[in-house]
Amino acid sequence: MKALISGAGGQVGRILLKSVPAGWTAAGLTHAELDIGDAAAVMAAVRARRPDLIISAGAYTAVDKAESEPEAAERANAMGARHLAVAARETGARLLHISTDFVFDGSASRPYPPDAATDPQSVYGRTKRRGEEAVLQVLPDASVIVRTAWVYAAAGNNFVRTMLRLLGSKGHVRVISDQVGTPTSATSLVEALWAFASRPDLKGIYHWTDLGVASWYDFAVAIAEEAAALGLLPSSVRVDPIVTEEYPTPARRPAYSVLDKRSAIEALGIPVRHWRVNLREVLREIAATG
Ligand SMILES: NC(=O)c1ccc[n+]([C@@H]2O[C@H](COP(=O)([O-])OP(=O)(O)OC[C@H]3O[C@@H](n4cnc5c(N)ncnc54)[C@H](OP(=O)(O)O)[C@@H]3O)[C@@H](O)[C@H]2O)c1
Repeated sequence: MKALISGAGGQVGRILLKSVPAGWTAAGLTHAELDIGDAAAVMAAVRARRPDLIISAGAYTAVDKAESEPEAAERANAMGARHLAVAARETGARLLHISTDFVFDGSASRPYPPDAATDPQSVYGRTKRRGEEAVLQVLPDASVIVRTAWVYAAAGNNFVRTMLRLLGSKGHVRVISDQVGTPTSATSLVEALWAFASRPDLKGIYHWTDLGVASWYDFAVAIAEEAAALGLLPSSVRVDPIVTEEYPTPARRPAYSVLDKRSAIEALGIPVRHWRVNLREVLREIAATG
């Protein structure tokens, strides 16, 4: 089976390409190699490679910047998803599309199931939701949308790397304690994505994150503790809790965005680990590779 991965230079795209399972070959196209906002380029790339599956891993992910660049976010997240779905339909490929917890408003107090009503509160969330709608409309029977959240990896631009940098240079950080979700290792997400890839019988929306729940503050405390245990940070670093109002950002973020992933766990039957276990593993990787 042949997969074509768009957005292959991002943190999820890179790990997808590094962990191609037996029975698959994969080609990756970075943003520079394929702009998914360009319909003709998408069609040409897919026609040339004739994949069995397209994995749509690229997106405009700068959540705050998107508030002042809505057209750029729309182009990648909504139109890009549509272009990939149209190209998949034209060539008979399936599409595995990654989406986000930011499609929800965050007012819930229990995990969001895949069929919960969406109400995105930011440009990023709205454009990602329009991308989902396009995929479901164009390719309802040959697509899976996997919503995930709070993704980090040993490399890339993410919360874990930011905390290590700030705690390493300043010795302390103030972190929001009233936004709750689930930190998710890109490696564990990619395991689930490849498992979805091998299941052509599945379609529609699924949720996938690591297990458990945390605030950004809890996540930062865990990073500080685990990193200190591995010698990546001194144990003297300090993490202080603040509330959202103390850290205003251009984009509104959901206060609660825990995803109910039971349907994915049941469908795939693969192991899913607690976020803190996966965090330790990723920090070990950082300790080993720098
Ligand atoms: N990171 C998270 O916490 C998180 C949470 C929930 C869902 N997601 C979703 O997970 C997926 C993967 O995200 P990630 O964490 O790997 O983000 P990432 O590291 O920011 O990677 C996104 C990649 O998409 C590329 N890209 C941007 N616009 C593009 C375009 N028009 N055409 C082709 N590629 C384009 C980016 O390239 P440039 O850098 O060159 O622009 C980048 O390489 C995305 O769909 C994202 O919405 C992420």
